[in-house]
Amino acid sequence: MQYEVVLPAAGSGKRMGAGHNKLFLKLLEKPILIHTLEVFQQDTLCTGIWLAVKPEERLYIQTMLQEYGITKVKSLPAGGVERQHSVHSCMKEMEQVDIVLVHDAARPFITHDIIANLVQSAHTYGAAIAGVRAKDTMKKVRNGVIEETVDRDSLWMIQTPQAFQYDLIVEAEDVAEKVGFLGTDEAMLVERLGHAVHIVESNYENVKITTQEDLIFGEAILRKRAL
Ligand code: CTP
Ligand code: MG
Repeated sequence: MQYEVVLPAAGSGKRMGAGHNKLFLKLLEKPILIHTLEVFQQDTLCTGIWLAVKPEERLYIQTMLQEYGITKVKSLPAGGVERQHSVHSCMKEMEQVDIVLVHDAARPFITHDIIANLVQSAHTYGAAIAGVRAKDTMKKVRNGVIEETVDRDSLWMIQTPQAFQYDLIVEAEDVAEKVGFLGTDEAMLVERLGHAVHIVESNYENVKITTQEDLIFGEAILRKRAL
């Protein structure tokens, strides 16, 4: 089962505080964006990459793609104000495929086995997203006071990739756009349609590089994998 992947890469990286797009920061000498792209460049199931970028960064990124031999990028549409808009601008250009994956460009440690499980699950059920079980005790807090301790067994921390049958994600995005609904992930748009979204158990290494300390975790993961 083949798929195409949407990689939103048009953020500002405010929480990283690097003063520019955090995806250009390097982990062991290679930009985060390239680490992520290489996974899909090498994944035999992936037939195309759609990379949402800031227009002013397009040229720089295109040069980087050439330098690192990334050949699967089909288009670099302009990203939008919110991540969902960036994903949508890629989807507007994508033609019919079996399965669409949406994956944060800021998650460079995704592995081929999890991708394969997601693609298979989306093929069977329509929608499947990566997640890990919550590790800590979870409590609901209001105004600094515990309201309740939530049953941890039912809580998952959601990541990307999120995988969908093409028609389902197109419909979910169209409906969201029409009513002006903004979600924090693509699954929310599909949930709104009343469609079941399945969880594929991922791993704790699939972190999103968000703040400074994630750079330390990230390099540690790469060093461990190089052993
Ligand atoms: N992203 C995007 N378009 C936006 C916002 C985010 O394409 N308008 C992308 C980012 O480049 C990143 C992914 O969505 O690959 C996840 O977003 P996040 O980790 O929040 O990155 P930033 O928005 O860049 O960081 P911050 O929120 O700290 O500014
Ligand atoms: Mg953001």
